[in-house]
Amino acid sequence: MNPLIGRRVLAIGANLAPLAQGTLFGVVLEAGNMERLRTLAPGDADLVLIDADGADSEGLAQALAALAAMPSPPATLLTGARLPAALVRTLLRLERSDVLEAPFSSDDLAAAAEALIFAPAMAAASPKATARLPSRCWAVTGAVGGSGATTMAVELATMLAMRAGQPRGVCLVDLNLADGAAAAYLGAKASLPIGELGVSAERIDAGMIAAFTTQVAKGLDLLACPRDPLAFNRTSRESVLRVLDLVSDAYESVVVDMPRHRRDWTVDALSGSDEVLVVSELTVPALLAARSLSDEIEADLPVGMKPRIVLNRLSTRMFGPAPSMAEAERALQRKADAGISSDWEAAAASANLGGPISHHRPKSKIVRDVAALVDQLLADEAALRAAGMRAA
Ligand SMILES: Nc1ncnc2c1ncn2[C@@H]1O[C@H](COP(=O)(O)OP(=O)(O)OP(=O)(O)O)[C@@H](O)[C@H]1O
Ligand SMILES: [Mg+2]
Repeated sequence: MNPLIGRRVLAIGANLAPLAQGTLFGVVLEAGNMERLRTLAPGDADLVLIDADGADSEGLAQALAALAAMPSPPATLLTGARLPAALVRTLLRLERSDVLEAPFSSDDLAAAAEALIFAPAMAAASPKATARLPSRCWAVTGAVGGSGATTMAVELATMLAMRAGQPRGVCLVDLNLADGAAAAYLGAKASLPIGELGVSAERIDAGMIAAFTTQVAKGLDLLACPRDPLAFNRTSRESVLRVLDLVSDAYESVVVDMPRHRRDWTVDALSGSDEVLVVSELTVPALLAARSLSDEIEADLPVGMKPRIVLNRLSTRMFGPAPSMAEAERALQRKADAGISSDWEAAAASANLGGPISHHRPKSKIVRDVAALVDQLLADEAALRAAGMRAA
């Protein structure tokens, strides 16, 4: 007997429904749109097929995140000619999911659909779905200028590279296109000419990314632009997002130093990240800004994603002019997710010598605290994966 008989399949995208109709014999097929996907209830479908080419990727990422938050989400197959890595990363939060790159045959569609419905664990682990994905992307932004976002991004990327032991390593991407400081902090060259981001996004490819990244340490590459006051006017949203997709495809981990002020690509870039870290210093204006920025970001992120607040430059003596942790958390109206000690000597010496604090001052409390933050983020990531595997 045809094992697909009676299975409920929801197809999103005008081209997919007729294809599924002619391929998946015996299924109960519903042709729907993004609105239907957003209102899907548990048990409405055994399999959701989505044509990503016909959909707005931000709306689709939000709908996928909402699916992932459902108690028993349906198996989901995403098809398309060019699937943004950020979107695929969101897809993989689902317990049973796979991607099918266009062009594909009706046999490919049938095989992928059946594998997802009947062999969920195998489908989730299929090399096709995982090979093109980075393990993680962490985005770092400052609540106010000078709060330590670049320092944090540099140290997180360095720490990940030291631990990774992966051939694909870590890429630190400085998206402060006009005046990024990551290269200067690392004593490295910013090699990506801003003019390359002004060309049409289609012309940006993996070879170009490889040509313009600078190796700064074993397993750590930097992608940054030289100073250009007009940089933001000379780049397009599509180009910046294409660069992020390509970097995400090429590296095991990506850390992004984000500009504080919002650009037309900010929400996409943050939505495609696994973690968003808002770095604040311990002054009341900075804490209030951290709270507002975190709320603003959270409102625009896919459901279930929440920025983490990192309090930087904590002094060991919790008295004097700086607010105490309790006072800080009152201003934030929430708990801080991590704290990084203040160590001006280590931070200044490393910046002046060019290189991470973990290299020049490995015993600094900053290094110890960043290590604890990395441990926490990796442990949470592992717990999330384990929960997904258990559910599958
Ligand atoms: N934990 C720390 N202890 C002492 N100094 C620190 C610490 N973190 C950062 N700094 C110092 O604070 C200054 C600002 O840091 P950084 O440039 O990383 O901030 P930013 O948020 O990226 O700034 P911008 O808004 O210009 O991008 C630098 O001089 C840096 O060395
Ligand atoms: Mg900075």
